[in-house]
Amino acid sequence: MMLTDFPLFPEQASTVAHQVDALYIMLTIVTGLAIVYRRRPDNELDQEEEAPKALEIAWIVIPFIFFMATFVWGSWLYFELARVPDNALDVYATGKQWMWKFQHPSGQREINELHVPVNRPIRVTMASEDVIHSLFFPYFRTKADVLPNRYRTLWFQATKTGRFHIFCAEYCGTLHSGMIGWVEVMEPTDYQKWLAGGTEGSLASQGEKLFQKYACATCHTNDATARGPVLLGLFGKTVTLSDNKTVVADENYIRESILNPQAKLVQGFGPIMPTFQGQVSEEDLLKLLAYIKSLTPPPKG
Ligand code: CUA
Repeated sequence: MMLTDFPLFPEQASTVAHQVDALYIMLTIVTGLAIVYRRRPDNELDQEEEAPKALEIAWIVIPFIFFMATFVWGSWLYFELARVPDNALDVYATGKQWMWKFQHPSGQREINELHVPVNRPIRVTMASEDVIHSLFFPYFRTKADVLPNRYRTLWFQATKTGRFHIFCAEYCGTLHSGMIGWVEVMEPTDYQKWLAGGTEGSLASQGEKLFQKYACATCHTNDATARGPVLLGLFGKTVTLSDNKTVVADENYIRESILNPQAKLVQGFGPIMPTFQGQVSEEDLLKLLAYIKSLTPPPKG
């Protein structure tokens, strides 16, 4: 890729891009001013002379207000980026030396390509198969580290259709710079057509097959007296552990419970589940996760 393909300020193609740029430009200007008007020998005040009170108050109060405003602005943007909208579409990403693998709940899989609809928040749940990577969408002004031992999420809402760069933004070995890809932002109707092209069955149904393959169903039946906890309706619930602590059954809890079942034992159950560390790939873990997420009890009439 030539440098000219990638401008210093790529097009703003997400809902937060303007905000991120505005904060960045403001901080750059303020830093520039601080350098221009720094203290030099020739503009130092005479030590003998006392500054007027009003001036002293002004140089304490004005910077204080300015820094508080910067803090509030920065935190507001941080929470904006951290809080995933409720109606977000799920996409799963796996980083691996040196490629990006994406899985969609409908079952589609892609490598170094990600198809998403425009004007819709997308939640990306990410894990790494090896070292730390960082999933970076420069046109959407969002980026997050992808870690080998836990799930992380980021979200974006694209505001323009087109093809936009994906980069790895964390040095991860020899071919780090080649760990790149493209987001294809599509009109919702085109996206539906693209989704309909899949043949493997939904991610949850692929997860259900793995659930059978690994014989999870032997212990995790829907019977409360079974050897393993009931998984129906588990996702998002609060679970009481054997040490009376509680934990919310989120993505990371389920991941840990598959890979290291003894780490957080559910109250009333013995340490009988074998570990699946090293036996289930990241992609298969995401399928199992999608399956367990899909196990919602029928609404009570
Ligand atoms: Cu992956 Cu750098």
